[in-house]
Amino acid sequence: MSQAKLRVFIRAEQIQERIRELGDEISGDYPHDTPIYLIGILKGSCIFLADLVRAIERPVRIDFIGLSSYGKSKTTSGEVKLTKDLDTTIEGADVLIVEDIVDSGVTLMYLMHVLEQRKPRSVAIASLLDKPARRMRPVHVKYVGFQIPDEFVVGYGLDYAEEYRNLKDVCVLET
Ligand code: IMP
Ligand code: MG
Repeated sequence: MSQAKLRVFIRAEQIQERIRELGDEISGDYPHDTPIYLIGILKGSCIFLADLVRAIERPVRIDFIGLSSYGKSKTTSGEVKLTKDLDTTIEGADVLIVEDIVDSGVTLMYLMHVLEQRKPRSVAIASLLDKPARRMRPVHVKYVGFQIPDEFVVGYGLDYAEEYRNLKDVCVLET
């Protein structure tokens, strides 16, 4: 293993507090009688989605989509691949994409394009983290947990080469 150092950046309690706020905001923005289709982008968003869905007081559906662009590197390859499609149809549905972090925006731009062709009623994005400094594509993230500076972070679902996803805090990975 390389000499990696972890520095706690956002504590577990802060994450939970922010998710309660996001849940309230999302609940207020959507109808009472039709489900919100939460679509988690595998694999990084799974822990955020699990907590967020319990903070939403509206009917929900859960599905996952697999996209990959990073491999084992820390920066985007600029290419996005669909590795697993949805199990459900989203035509006419209110879709909420759930992402761990928006960095260049390349992944989400691609996904928005794919999903819009399936004619949902609405599509919005919720992301735990947002790194606006690195944006290359103009994606609008409606629900942002935390804006962070240009640091590489891991934990709470986020990985580096598949490691560190199970950390309770979001940590900066210093190599
Ligand atoms: P984008 O297409 O550049 O916006 O990349 C978004 C994806 O890159 C995220 O879903 C993450 O999987 C990954 N990513 C970007 N920044 C980080 C980071 O700081 N830590 C871990 N993964 C990251
Ligand atoms: Mg991801």
